[in-house]
Amino acid sequence: MSDPSPLLAVENLSVRFVSKGILPFTAKKSHTAVSDVSFSVGRSEIVGLVGESGSGKSTLGRALLRLIKPAEGTIRLDGTDVWARHSPAEERGLRDHLQFVFQDPYSSLNPHLTLGASVAEPLVVKGGTSRRAIEGRVREVFEMVRLPQSFIHRHPSQVSGGQRQRAAIARALTTKPSLIVADEPTSALDVSIQADIVNLFMDMRDNLGVSFLFITHDLAVSKKVCDRILVLFRGRVVESGRPDDLFRRPAHPYTRTIIESLPSADFRHRSRVDGAAAGTESEAGAEACVFHARCRKRVALGDPSDCAAQTPALQAIGPRHFAACHHPDLEA
Ligand SMILES: Nc1ncnc2c1ncn2[C@@H]1O[C@H](COP(=O)(O)OP(=O)(O)O)[C@@H](O)[C@H]1O
Ligand code: SF4
Ligand SMILES: [Mg+2]
Repeated sequence: MSDPSPLLAVENLSVRFVSKGILPFTAKKSHTAVSDVSFSVGRSEIVGLVGESGSGKSTLGRALLRLIKPAEGTIRLDGTDVWARHSPAEERGLRDHLQFVFQDPYSSLNPHLTLGASVAEPLVVKGGTSRRAIEGRVREVFEMVRLPQSFIHRHPSQVSGGQRQRAAIARALTTKPSLIVADEPTSALDVSIQADIVNLFMDMRDNLGVSFLFITHDLAVSKKVCDRILVLFRGRVVESGRPDDLFRRPAHPYTRTIIESLPSADFRHRSRVDGAAAGTESEAGAEACVFHARCRKRVALGDPSDCAAQTPALQAIGPRHFAACHHPDLEA
């Protein structure tokens, strides 16, 4: 948040889903999946986005990738508003610079094409690059992701899950992106393979200068790979900071709860009532802190009125360390 010209700058982003009832004449329902989120990603930086299932991680990632239109806020990549109208040249630039890797490699690899053809596709679609140059680039990115050159001729079904994910990463690299949104890229892989993919991301950051928004429900993975971490709870960032600060000095009661349950802090295996202030379900209104109902600290403090009165904004509690709590645990 102190970077004067970050690669990615997200300001006051909100995303809402509006659903119509199945029957006619029923009222529309609006659900805010991402609420007033601001953050930045610097150059050659891996920023993690962690949170339990349904906290809005994928929705936020998809808004950055222009797959879901935000209700409010701005997203700038290298100064360009990604949702504004662009000239054809700006549009090509954005497509080159903003790439993605999802949990399922088949979301970017066509099962009917060879891996080489799928990896070449973004450059073919872009146009203006000779066939020979595209083939050269494909060989280069296969080497970067440490896939044997012979795999260029294989189909996705003929390689392992980890190798397929490497091919999906190679495809994302083809256009020399500056930012890759990676949504649960290791979640479907065996633990040993996960480590390879995570190491590959760190190599890409260090050797190619690529930045990542690394979305994961797995705190342990985020601790290993990320330079900074944002903790999302019900669509809001409740804490952000460097892994060392977050893991050693968590300031928000939610972060503290999930970190105390490490090493098994994998949100998939956690109960929804983790961190709940048992028997103290609040009747606070919409203005209350988003964590009000589950906050043990609020109960321990005797239910201070500010917790129910106002949603806390993110405030600095240390260098590059922010928490959205009226009563944060301050650094020693
Ligand atoms: N296409 C959609 N239509 C309606 N609601 C959605 C849609 N996608 C996600 N949601 C809702 O938005 C919230 C956040 O979902 P999501 O971003 O997928 O969370 P996460 O990736 O953290 O698990 C959830 O309540 C989810 O049900
Ligand atoms: S503002 Fe109050 S309810 Fe919210 S996290 Fe902090 S102590 Fe808990
Ligand atoms: Mg998701």
